Amino acid sequence: MNKKIILSGIQPSGELCIGNYLGALKQWNILQDKYESIFLVVDMHALTVDQVPSDLRQRCLSFVAQYIACGIDPDKSIIAMQSHVHEHVELMWVLNSLCYLGELNRMTQFKDKSKDKKNVNVGLFTYPVLMASDILLYQADLVPVGADQKQHLELSRDLAIRFNYKYSDTFKIPEPFIPESGARIMSLQDPLKKMSKSDSNLNNIIALLDSNAIIKKKINRAVTDSGSEIKYSEDKPGLSNLIDIYTSLTNEKIEDVEQKYIGKMYSVLKKDLIEIIIDFLGPIKEEYTKIISDKAYLAEVLSDGSEKASFKARRTLSKVYRKVGFVKK
Ligand code: TRP
Repeated sequence: MNKKIILSGIQPSGELCIGNYLGALKQWNILQDKYESIFLVVDMHALTVDQVPSDLRQRCLSFVAQYIACGIDPDKSIIAMQSHVHEHVELMWVLNSLCYLGELNRMTQFKDKSKDKKNVNVGLFTYPVLMASDILLYQADLVPVGADQKQHLELSRDLAIRFNYKYSDTFKIPEPFIPESGARIMSLQDPLKKMSKSDSNLNNIIALLDSNAIIKKKINRAVTDSGSEIKYSEDKPGLSNLIDIYTSLTNEKIEDVEQKYIGKMYSVLKKDLIEIIIDFLGPIKEEYTKIISDKAYLAEVLSDGSEKASFKARRTLSKVYRKVGFVKK
């Protein structure tokens, strides 16, 4: 029996952070052994926010190197740059013609991102249609995403169902894959919001490539809550977030960590957490440094990945073109 297909992607804006590792890359790492896997750097999505071209180029390569340093194995998974596979935008055009304005108007992420902006670009509005193309193009069965992407995935499903109904069975209907375990890592300064790589305040995140000194500074500055007891609870969101990071990296139980720090001060927990993060990121950074300096290797991974991805993408797109009534080339 054919393996099921999983597909996911991260937008190269900001810096990959431990939130991305624990929420996505760690899972991808495990999933790639069980599924046929495609992991994208969605550089076309990144254009919906202002980018400095030379930074974007550098960051895209850096993301690929970080995927690999975190354990995504190009021999097991397809790693591809979205812009290298032109079928993504071609399918998007077809899906644009099936998608209703009302559906895109209802996207909460669009509402949030466009709220305080003077000029809202159309790309930000049609972003979810491009995401649907990413997914449907490869006939993905499962899409590992964070809870904030569920609505986008729902749209992908709706578009697939609509296309299949209007023309005939063409797309697989993708399912969200939201891991049961694994904490949601929150911002270090504002623990009520998610730790986001695109956060403009870098004190909110621990980037995978942060130096040891920076890690130390950021954890020491992380907000904790009033009181002094080390207890995981809803009314201690700052402290609980630090415990979540701690247990996610050490695989210890929350109760055991609470037990270990009975009668100890927050600063003791922070000191240990700094060490845990530094030890965890050390080998990733080391691997990253090797990979990023080997430009030939990176180029080979990308050309290999885009070749494999294009092959799959062409198959779906030619079916789509035929079904909608385009003349064969
Ligand atoms: N929108 C996703 C995010 O911000 C990124 C993304 C783009 C994606 N295309 C995708 C995720 C396809 C999964 C599958 O997290």
